[in-house]
Amino acid sequence: MSRFSSVLLAILGVLAASAAAAQQVGYGIGHKITDAQIAPWNIDISGEDGKGLPPGTGSVADGEKLYVQQCASCHGEFGEGNGRWPELMGGQGTLRHEDPRKTIGSFWPWAPTIFDYVRRTMPFAAPQSLDDNETYAIVAYLLHLNDLLPADAVLDAKSLTAIKMPNRDGFIAGDPRPDVRAEQCMKDCRKGPVTVTSDQAKSLGVTPTQRPKD
Ligand code: HEC
Repeated sequence: MSRFSSVLLAILGVLAASAAAAQQVGYGIGHKITDAQIAPWNIDISGEDGKGLPPGTGSVADGEKLYVQQCASCHGEFGEGNGRWPELMGGQGTLRHEDPRKTIGSFWPWAPTIFDYVRRTMPFAAPQSLDDNETYAIVAYLLHLNDLLPADAVLDAKSLTAIKMPNRDGFIAGDPRPDVRAEQCMKDCRKGPVTVTSDQAKSLGVTPTQRPKD
């Protein structure tokens, strides 16, 4: 064995040994995440069945007070939206219009999603500062502003999940990508090159016949 190849083998041996060692002990950084560390991040709520909603209650009346203090400066006292801040009320029945008003009341399909969103993100400058009862109260007030809860209502996980949002059936589930809709031919398939038999753009006369001048 030449000197060169024995040096090479020695290097390979060292590399293999260190790779095996790395596999055994990892890189020595980080540690397994604990349930307690995951908990503050694991706050998603399923809109459809309210899974993940915490215990707690909140009334429309309490929600109005909190909303006026913490939300109205941007979203307007009645959810009408201040200036260019988003409106949180109204718009029901406008989704088919040329200028639809998409609000939580007119557009969002599931009421528990409002809880998830508010608890996670609002107020804008202090997200996740509301506790669960405060969030229930504010969400109750928002639903009241959208005529989806009476003024004396108290909201909890069960009653929030039971609310049917006006646009619940307005979303169509399905894969929108055109390339996956075609069924694959499995037998008696056409052989040979494919020829284009119709050209919509040409028959509509929208295909330019001459190259534009540069
Ligand atoms: C400083 C201004 C500000 C304050 C105060 C504020 N928000 Fe917002 N809010 C926003 C902005 C901006 C958005 C849009 C964020 C985006 O689309 O990413 C928003 C979006 C929302 C939405 C979603 C609207 C939609 O149709 O998509 C809800 C619900 C909401 N806020 C509720 C609240 C509540 C409840 C409070 C009080 C606890 C609050 N906000 C306080 C600025 C604010």
